[in-house]
Amino acid sequence: MQIFTKINDIKAAITLLKSKKIRIGFVPTMGALHNGHLSLISKANAENDITVCSIFVNPVQFNNTEDFEKYPVQNDKDIELLRYSGCEIVFIPTVKEMYPEPPNEKFNFGTLEDVMEGAFRPGHFNGVAIVVKKLFEIITPDSAYFGEKDFQQLMIIKSLVKQLNLHIEIVSCPIIRESDGLAMSSRNIRLTEHQRKIAPEIHALLKKCADHSMEFSLEQVKSEFVRSIEAIPEFRLDYFEIADEGNLQPISNWSDSDTPRAFVAIFMDKVRLIDNMKIFCNFAKS
Ligand code: PAJ
Repeated sequence: MQIFTKINDIKAAITLLKSKKIRIGFVPTMGALHNGHLSLISKANAENDITVCSIFVNPVQFNNTEDFEKYPVQNDKDIELLRYSGCEIVFIPTVKEMYPEPPNEKFNFGTLEDVMEGAFRPGHFNGVAIVVKKLFEIITPDSAYFGEKDFQQLMIIKSLVKQLNLHIEIVSCPIIRESDGLAMSSRNIRLTEHQRKIAPEIHALLKKCADHSMEFSLEQVKSEFVRSIEAIPEFRLDYFEIADEGNLQPISNWSDSDTPRAFVAIFMDKVRLIDNMKIFCNFAKS
């Protein structure tokens, strides 16, 4: 496994691979790797000749300084995990290497960024787009892998690739969960033992919501979810929405969408957790 920290060095290695017509799969991450990240790498390994993974805690996508400062960094552990993952190239640049000057590019994702993470974390998706565009320019992958854990981010990246007319296949990968249902996340290690025991309730309630979509109106399902979350003192709800998974616009009746998905963001003290779940509902209700 080769490890690069400099843009020019990795670009030279990529140019060589491209000259040999080697198909490149790319998995961008912010490190503190877990099985969610590793599932993306496995898929990239299966569908490409080589896999490149990047580890970069991107300062410009954090709208909260404390969240950035407390974001777990464990590069040595990550490199060890990557050695056994089948990933051939790792890119771990510094902030100065990625941004010699503060980036000021502005993107427009229209209504995709008006809601949920876009509305509750102003500037977040612009920062994601800045770094992903730059990483795509450096790695020039044939395909890139993103998790449905960050479902809205996945849609933003698809829109970015379309807007920039890039020939990169964006591959979506299912959410990987702990055995108790909690969606794997680098932020989970910041939870106290007590919070960690309660956190799986987010998934349990999402599942309840998906399971009951056929029996109740959308408003009933939403208010029951919110009531259940608010009854747990360790949770502070940031938002809960049921939206169409194609355009991410919130819906108020089941009949408004053929592909509804529930999205939630919750604080446990200073740690913010997000999760989402597809709702299968194949008949119209009010
Ligand atoms: P990060 O949170 O490290 O996630 C990297 C990739 O792993 C993302 O595509 C994310 O959706 C995916 N992922 C995280 N947890 C997952 C899980 N439990 N199951 C499946 N996939 C999961 O997302 C980012 O980093 C950054 O915003 C980035 C795209 C790297 C840009 O900085």
